[in-house]
Amino acid sequence: MTLSPEPFPFRLVHVDETNSTNSYLQSLCNAQLVEEFTTVITDFQTAGRGQRGNSWESEIGKNLLFSFVLFPKFLEARRQFLISQIISLAIKEELDTYTPDISIKWPNDIYWKQKKICGMLIENDLMGKQLSQSIAGIGININQESFFSPAPNPISLLQITQKKYDLFTILKNIMHRIQDYYTLLQQNQVEWIANHYEKALFRKEGLHLYKDVNGIFLARIVQVEAEGRLILEDENQRKRNYMFKEVEYILER
Ligand code: BTN
Repeated sequence: MTLSPEPFPFRLVHVDETNSTNSYLQSLCNAQLVEEFTTVITDFQTAGRGQRGNSWESEIGKNLLFSFVLFPKFLEARRQFLISQIISLAIKEELDTYTPDISIKWPNDIYWKQKKICGMLIENDLMGKQLSQSIAGIGININQESFFSPAPNPISLLQITQKKYDLFTILKNIMHRIQDYYTLLQQNQVEWIANHYEKALFRKEGLHLYKDVNGIFLARIVQVEAEGRLILEDENQRKRNYMFKEVEYILER
């Protein structure tokens, strides 16, 4: 990544290569006092970590791979989903400026149509009933031309728009947006955040296919609760509640 002379609003650590920016930032936080919003960015991860123990593929220098740290001590641990919501909204709104059809796939993937353009791995530490530290790691596919990993449906901004982008500009814009949303969170504007999150959801309307331990079913999204639980209503008007990883979206081809 070429760092432009434009100022970045927070401490920025750029490393050419690391195993994982989340792990790098975690070590930094363990080793020294780190300011909130300190951001670590890399050109290449040798062991990029995804959700559910998956890995994260990204070609060298092509995409945004970064992590930043928050210390949301004002937030109760049971409200930690709000961190996911504000980061998802900030990224969605930045990507909206380049292409239509961006949405948030519950809980915190960013989609273009039926394809995944961004994933995040948020690692929270608790102190009693409060959050003490959140390390948010974000991978956004920007300039990659093709994908080879077994991930089912990756897509990049270049594949969508046939244009190349300056990574640093997008990073800076996203961090400004996250800072604005974090201020809203500090002001306890949680209803506003939840409403905007629900409006931004992938499959917010209509019946779609899902899969849980009992098999495949058709359902519509009713609500995402404050603690992050997804409420679906199936064809028989039966409500089904899921925490993360308990339900899978069956995607259209
Ligand atoms: C997912 O599986 O959807 C989450 C992917 C998160 C990938 C990002 S890339 C930067 C940061 N460092 C990591 O090791 N993972 C996250």
